Amino acid sequence: MRVQVVIIGGGPSGLLLGQLLHQKGIDTLVLERKTRDYVLGRIRAGVLEVGFVNLMREAGVAKRMERESFIHGGTVISYEDMQFGINFEALTGNHVVVYGQTEVTRDLYDARAAVGAKTVFNTEHVEIHGADSDAPYVTYQVDGTEHRVDCDYVAGCDGFHGISRQSIPLTVRREYEKVYPFGWLGILSETPPVNDELIYAGSDRGFALCSMRNANLSRYYIQCSLSDHAEDWTDAAFWQELKRRIPAEAAERLVTGPSIEKSIAPLRSFVCEPMRWGRLFLCGDAAHIVPPTGAKGLNTAASDIHYLYHALVQVYETGETEGINRYSEKALARVWKTQRFSWWMTTLLHRFPHQSEFDLKVQKAEIAFLRDSRDAQTVLAQNYVGLPY
Ligand code: APR
Ligand code: PHB
Repeated sequence: MRVQVVIIGGGPSGLLLGQLLHQKGIDTLVLERKTRDYVLGRIRAGVLEVGFVNLMREAGVAKRMERESFIHGGTVISYEDMQFGINFEALTGNHVVVYGQTEVTRDLYDARAAVGAKTVFNTEHVEIHGADSDAPYVTYQVDGTEHRVDCDYVAGCDGFHGISRQSIPLTVRREYEKVYPFGWLGILSETPPVNDELIYAGSDRGFALCSMRNANLSRYYIQCSLSDHAEDWTDAAFWQELKRRIPAEAAERLVTGPSIEKSIAPLRSFVCEPMRWGRLFLCGDAAHIVPPTGAKGLNTAASDIHYLYHALVQVYETGETEGINRYSEKALARVWKTQRFSWWMTTLLHRFPHQSEFDLKVQKAEIAFLRDSRDAQTVLAQNYVGLPY
């Protein structure tokens, strides 16, 4: 078998790239290790930059999103006795869009099936060969049968635990990592959101976040210890702890109910350089991870997809390889800015195990500065709504 681009990984990165390339007549094969239902069962974040939404429009997959999503023109920051809004619209003229990543993935799978583009599920032992040659190919197994697909390019969109990144030799690859000494315990509940904007709350008991999916589906998180287990947290204990970390008036009006999902995610910052090796390109979580505090995971994947999509269209339409040659450099320039922002939001709002009294005073002063400075708020807002591609 032969296709122009093999895409390893059927998460949002791989699917969005596949859909964009399809619109330009470039054929792709998506290889996904799990089943469609498994991928769609994963609960992920839900805040999208307008840049991401525009890519979905360009891919022709934004109809349901336009109907069912919510525009958020700002957010609330709270820290002990301080509560204030960051008005994205007033500070940047821009906003973010709330629409679950699971829904994004569902729309992309439906669109891929509708155009008849090929996806192979349950792939095992995926291997990339000759990425540094002019004739790369990918081998994989399904039900024990070996397959081979020849291609022009390989897009490694297989997430943090995928094989694409590992295919770049260690003599070339450099990885940068920061592991945070806490996790987020998240729940989804069929209750109305406590506030019409997200609330990011720092407190002496640790961080909490009030988010949402729609008018009757809320997503809440609390900072927890890495040794905690989600099953040991009863719903009652979760709600009680959340209420102690958010502003009192929000805690009073919070509607609680049974959780329909509960899980713990560790927090990590990670970047792999370079993001291209020969004809292999890394995109999304395969190349970088951010802690979720700035809602940048999927949005950073989207800028990679933007650069790679344009680079591939350029080479297929004109033969010009400038976009491909500069992919890693362009993608990483934006990735590192997003890393900085996500690290900053995380550091600003979480309690760290060995924080001294001095550290806490500085953290509080930084929040007060943010509350009082329009310039500081503008910096937050610019990063939150998304830096330009
Ligand atoms: N072969 C084939 N598929 C693989 C392999 C492999 N060896 N390893 C992993 N995969 C698949 C996973 O099963 C998953 O469906 O690759 C997909 C990667 O998807 P994600 O992890 O969702 O990564 P990505 O598409 O880059 O999405 C970016 O945004 O909010 C963030 O972290 C969040 O998933 C999110 C990300
Ligand atoms: C979410 O809704 O899941 C969410 C929102 C904002 C974040 C992280 C997660 O920063």
